[in-house]
Amino acid sequence: MAALQIPTTVGGNTIDETLFGLIADDLVTQGFSIRPGALPQDIAHELHSYQTQMKDNLYTNAGIGRGEDYLHNEFVRTDEICWITGSAEAGKLWIDWTSQLQAFLNKRLFLGLFSFESHFAHYAPGDYYKKHYDAFRGETNRVLSVVAYLNPGWTQADGGELVLYKSDIDQEGIKVVPLFGTLVVFLSEEFPHEVLPANRDRHSVAGWFRVNTSIGNKIDPPR
Ligand code: OGA
Ligand code: MN
Repeated sequence: MAALQIPTTVGGNTIDETLFGLIADDLVTQGFSIRPGALPQDIAHELHSYQTQMKDNLYTNAGIGRGEDYLHNEFVRTDEICWITGSAEAGKLWIDWTSQLQAFLNKRLFLGLFSFESHFAHYAPGDYYKKHYDAFRGETNRVLSVVAYLNPGWTQADGGELVLYKSDIDQEGIKVVPLFGTLVVFLSEEFPHEVLPANRDRHSVAGWFRVNTSIGNKIDPPR
């Protein structure tokens, strides 16, 4: 008999335990999860309308690194970003949902995810983000990356794929079309990846779950 899925309520929200379970299984078996249509429709629509109406001056040129190491480097990436604070309704929905995912993964996989940071990203036609890791072994507390795409009607001909490489020596990678609602989750230290130039404006939300590595009175992640 097929297992009965009973929706669970957390803080008044119904969460999709089936989807979170599939993501957890993907992470265990392959270290990444690529799920078209996984971002709940209402959240996807809120994020999309917020991002497409966002004023240009809310964006900053994307940099690499954190804090004092922050570096704007056009050789690496040319997109623009806006950090999500949760002050707008769209960002709040996203943060609520990712915190449910965080709680689920902690319970199921004992990941000890402690905090989450995320930003909107806009890639104008021709923009790119060269091959990179989101975290370096032993140097960071980013452990899990999540990217959600907000581009209705995107086709392969539009370019702009995320290419996820299975290792340093993987030349081919897996290409992900940044179509509205697609969700990608992967272990930050394990998978180099890049964003290929597109011929359309490309919108996404990227976030990172972190573990707590505060030592003594040095707070990390910084608040
Ligand atoms: C990033 C990143 C991927 C994407 O912001 O670190 O890799 O497809 N984004 O937007
Ligand atoms: Mn990245």
